Amino acid sequence: MSEVSLETIVSLAKRRGFVFPSSDIYGGLAGFYDYGPYGTQLAKNIRDLWWQHFVEKVPNIHGLDSAIIQNPKLWEASGHVAGFNDPLVDCKNCQARHRADHLAGVDSTDLKKLDELIKDKPCPKCGQKGHFTEARTYNMMMKTYVGPVEDNENVAYLRPETAGSIFTNFELVRETTRAKIPFGIAQIGKAFRNEISPRDFIFRTRELEQMEMQYFVDPKNETEEYENLRKFNWNFCIEAMGFDEANLQWHEHTEDERAHYARAAHDIQFKFPFGFKELWGTHNRSDFDLTAHGKASGKELNYFDPETEKSYVPFVMESSVGVGRIFLAALVDSYAEEDVEGEKRVVLRINPKLAPVNVAILPLMKKPELAGKAKEIYTMLNQSTNLRIEYDETGSIGKRYRRQDEIGTPKAVTVDFDTLENDDVTIRDRDTMEQKRVKITDLAKELSNDS
Ligand code: GAP
Repeated sequence: MSEVSLETIVSLAKRRGFVFPSSDIYGGLAGFYDYGPYGTQLAKNIRDLWWQHFVEKVPNIHGLDSAIIQNPKLWEASGHVAGFNDPLVDCKNCQARHRADHLAGVDSTDLKKLDELIKDKPCPKCGQKGHFTEARTYNMMMKTYVGPVEDNENVAYLRPETAGSIFTNFELVRETTRAKIPFGIAQIGKAFRNEISPRDFIFRTRELEQMEMQYFVDPKNETEEYENLRKFNWNFCIEAMGFDEANLQWHEHTEDERAHYARAAHDIQFKFPFGFKELWGTHNRSDFDLTAHGKASGKELNYFDPETEKSYVPFVMESSVGVGRIFLAALVDSYAEEDVEGEKRVVLRINPKLAPVNVAILPLMKKPELAGKAKEIYTMLNQSTNLRIEYDETGSIGKRYRRQDEIGTPKAVTVDFDTLENDDVTIRDRDTMEQKRVKITDLAKELSNDS
């Protein structure tokens, strides 16, 4: 199991073009990050894998891509305008703002309990003890104005979760797909939260991306459907992402911790460098959302069961995970350091399906005859396979192997002088570093089998 520090991951992410602080040349902006070339590809591969498992391979789950800004009535009805709050305190000595639950080390929204727990704690910024204001709630919705007039009439919110518009589209999706309960609606997209203390790199950001699926079920099956969804989420982490099971554990929310809409909630926690923390939420949202939106909009969001000829408001089982959070988990889970002939080798043993690059094509040296042949092979593989291939001729072969190891490239193909004579190349394996000789005519098949 990896025991890598967060600093090591942040440094690798920047050095190898996975994640940069946003607007880095201006000193960045807390809670916002940009994904570099390899990070963009890794995030896309994660999204694609999730979409395959949650939409493409499941006949009764349908995709959605809604607007980020919706009618603000949605967020009033959902309870977010009134209740999407975090507990906040100020340090009276240095004026720094902190999340009271983080200072207290508990997941709780009980303000009195938090005041009691933190009253003798030091401020993380100035170190003074006992100088906190009373905890108060702070709404995390990010506001903007729609149109040219900046007044209360035109306030709108950047969505704090992708789930909201799934509920408002429930009836349209049901009608257009002729779906029968149980069925799901899935969405991947950006969400925004004005977090008091964004931290731990891309773990807690103010702009985030969620992969969410709401499964609409008959209320009488809530327990069975909830348990099935929990298993489905867990299996995705193990089987699709390839995470080490020792890095995962369940955490059941107490009543105190649960979001305002949740009747039951279990997190899959991942062993991040800063401890086991929430990776993925499964929630039983009961009929909370469809009832609330039905009442507020005046449109009944009921389901008519053609078999029993009865109507009911479906219950919602929710699966929700952040792209950035599972991306960070993938880096931590796959990071390894080893000693190779007295030198440190850093390698991302990432699932080959997720690796930003599948195959690196490397001429042994930057000689025209080797580069020419290597480029020919690059073009051949590009045209005949779906592999993500990178050509690299810059630097010593040893340094190029190390670079690909750090990016997590499962296979490197080396073109040397024997290639020119025998029409064969060396394939080097990322994990074992073993090398084997393969005919160029067999290369596409050989690499496609492995990826
Ligand atoms: N629709 C339910 C919902 O949004 P949540 O527990 O607030 O529930 C779900 O968030 C998931 O979204 C979390 O498990 C986490 O993976 C991700 N997430 C939440 N807040 C985040 C933040 N500030 N930065 C990055 N990811 C976040």
